[in-house]
Amino acid sequence: MGRRLLLLGPPGAGKGTQAELLATAVGIPHVSTGVMLREAVAAGTDLGRQVEAVMASGELVTDDLMVKVVEDRLAKEDAACGYLLDGFPRTVPQADALGDGAIDAVVLIEVGDEEIVSRLLQRAAEEGRTDDTEDVVRRRLEVYREQTEPLVDYYRGRGLLRDVDGVGDVDEVLARIVGVLARNGAGTP
Ligand code: AP5
Repeated sequence: MGRRLLLLGPPGAGKGTQAELLATAVGIPHVSTGVMLREAVAAGTDLGRQVEAVMASGELVTDDLMVKVVEDRLAKEDAACGYLLDGFPRTVPQADALGDGAIDAVVLIEVGDEEIVSRLLQRAAEEGRTDDTEDVVRRRLEVYREQTEPLVDYYRGRGLLRDVDGVGDVDEVLARIVGVLARNGAGTP
């Protein structure tokens, strides 16, 4: 049974929120490239210094760097029996590098742009993430359309993609995700 899952969707769709709940429920590690990069920035590592300005601008870190970060993470023992990817792959070259056989199911969380901007501006007020200003959020949405949205057809064409409406209570959205994965035969403990 497939336990190698990917949550796809625009910034602010709720990938991180849902991934944390789902990974705990399924018993697999939540692998978030955004979290890993923000931790590297906070710790002032070489990686953090390399990515800080790019992240603050809403652009993407290079594919080579991200592929290396994720390869190292997935080589760890806790990922041997499955993982929930959040934020990677984000480009077609990243998906090619991950390889077709590395994903059992992809859930696309769909949320409209204005709801996204409102969620992220609220988070900016609460948490102060440097890429949550209105200009940068709108740039992140453009980058998503240009570089990440092609993955929707990429995974749909491989029969792996399931769509979920991301608007509603967190628990309601989680139930939708669990529902589509159960129908897919993936992700159930
Ligand atoms: P990343 O951290 O992945 O950012 P993102 O995709 O923009 O995602 P967010 O964390 O903003 O949103 P989310 O969908 O996870 O939603 P969340 O649950 O947080 O990446 C950041 C940057 O790192 C990138 O821009 C890039 O520079 C770099 N990077 C990362 N990976 C990369 C890669 N593979 N390649 C290249 N560069 C990479 O929720 C958002 C808010 O909404 C929260 O406040 C939450 O509480 C709220 N919320 C969640 N669900 C709901 C709901 N149902 N109703 C109302 N509010 C909700």
